[in-house]
Amino acid sequence: MQKILRCASIFGNLCYLKLLPIITLALCFDLDKIISVREINAAVINISGRQRMLSQRAALLALRLVSTPDEGEQEKLRQKMLAAIDLMEKSHNGLIHGDPELRLPGQPSEEIQSIYFEAPFYLDQQIRHYISQVRALAQIPSLELTLNHPHVTTIVKASEKDLLEALEALVSQYQKESDEAQLEVELYQAQLYQESCAATAAAQAHAQQLEKALLDLRRTQAQLIETEKLSSIGQMVAGVAHEINNPVSFIYGNLCYASDYVQDLLALLNLYQEYYGKHHPPVQAKIKAIDLDFLLKDLPKVLESMQVGADRVRQIVLSLRNFSRSDRLLMEAVNLHEGIDGTLLILQNRLKARYHRPTIEVVKDYGDLPSVECYAGQINQVFMNLLSNAIDALEEVPNHLGRITIQTRVNPDHSRVIIRICDNGPGITPDVQAQLFDPFFTTKPIGKGTGLGLSISYQIVVEKHGGILKCESAPGKGTEFCIELPLQVSRSLSTLKATAMALQG
Ligand SMILES: Nc1ncnc2c1ncn2[C@@H]1O[C@H](COP(=O)(O)OP(=O)(O)OP(=O)(O)O)[C@@H](O)[C@H]1O
Ligand SMILES: [Mg+2]
Repeated sequence: MQKILRCASIFGNLCYLKLLPIITLALCFDLDKIISVREINAAVINISGRQRMLSQRAALLALRLVSTPDEGEQEKLRQKMLAAIDLMEKSHNGLIHGDPELRLPGQPSEEIQSIYFEAPFYLDQQIRHYISQVRALAQIPSLELTLNHPHVTTIVKASEKDLLEALEALVSQYQKESDEAQLEVELYQAQLYQESCAATAAAQAHAQQLEKALLDLRRTQAQLIETEKLSSIGQMVAGVAHEINNPVSFIYGNLCYASDYVQDLLALLNLYQEYYGKHHPPVQAKIKAIDLDFLLKDLPKVLESMQVGADRVRQIVLSLRNFSRSDRLLMEAVNLHEGIDGTLLILQNRLKARYHRPTIEVVKDYGDLPSVECYAGQINQVFMNLLSNAIDALEEVPNHLGRITIQTRVNPDHSRVIIRICDNGPGITPDVQAQLFDPFFTTKPIGKGTGLGLSISYQIVVEKHGGILKCESAPGKGTEFCIELPLQVSRSLSTLKATAMALQG
């Protein structure tokens, strides 16, 4: 396990996760040992079997030697007999004492030793005697070679019975021991495999923990940056809204008086004109110069548009204050449509026509939504992020009739509200979609996007409100972001926590 963890730090990143099972197997398995056990077993079985074959061969050559009259042929047979018997002797010594050349370990078991040195077989003695008999036969002159020669009789008898039986006992004992060793190796392998599986699982769990910690850290870092940004923007917006609010209130509050006063003054002007104006040429000249008829018609319209303008400024100030509620820590039941409208108002300027594209159309398809308990400022921030992204996407297509559709609904069992923000922009490729909610992932140029908008939105919707944020898109088909918020956030959050704890446990 220590070795595996050291490997992890050497790899330096989490890609080693995929290699982990292989690394673990390589570290846990002693392949050399397994291979050498197999090779030794094979050598021992092979050579003990060969002893049996060599003894038979020596006997056969002895019979051929005594039955051939040709001295040349006899010489060849003698050489072959000696070669067979030399090999038999070398193998015999190797099996008992070990021989690196033949890959024989020596150190025979007690059972094997008893075959070699004890009754009933005394195999060591039998083999040495047999070897000496064959060597002696190979030295006998041609004239003395007969079938009844005692060496020949001894060799043939041993090869047919006593020696053969002892060698067969030896081979079967070696075979038995090899099978046992093989079984042991297999058990050892199975045990190693189990250990390696457990080590892999532990290392994988550890790596996953690390990966999660890293992700959490990046999210927290992103959230800190965004919270910092939001809170300073929020404070600034709140400050500006407050400063504008007072003078706007004066204007808005006094406009109706101004309008009444103007009406009164106009009435007075009419009277003056009626009783004095006609007889005084300078007054007539002034009336002409200022085009009094037009002025009288236009003034109420001017006042009216001032009223509309002031009303609008007041609305914007209200929206700004509403928007800057992000620093409020308590959940409150809010009308989400107000939040969306407020956000659209702030983004109004960005929707207007530009030299390279017409005005972006906003289609609202609002359903009948109840108040939703949420962190209003944060949810407004989500609307802001999604709508800004939609505008950014539409900006990318020159001369395109951009359209953003906002649909709100309550789901059939009245447990959630669903807000869909769709655009008919360029859409998102699958590889970008896979990274959409990663902190700092952006396709926008440096200075334009930080890549935090969607990851923060995800955190706000999913973690803070127990909701769902998902995206459906395809290149050329536009993009739809869907926010689902539970109507009872607190209950949904406790279910979410319980599920997370169950998964961890
Ligand atoms: N409506 C959309 N259409 C096409 N691509 C989108 C859309 N919304 C998001 N994206 C893609 O997702 C990426 C990540 O969006 P995200 O809001 O997280 O970051 P950003 O907009 O790039 O930067 P930031 O929001 O921090 O200013 C964007 O860079 C863009 O490639
Ligand atoms: Mg964004």
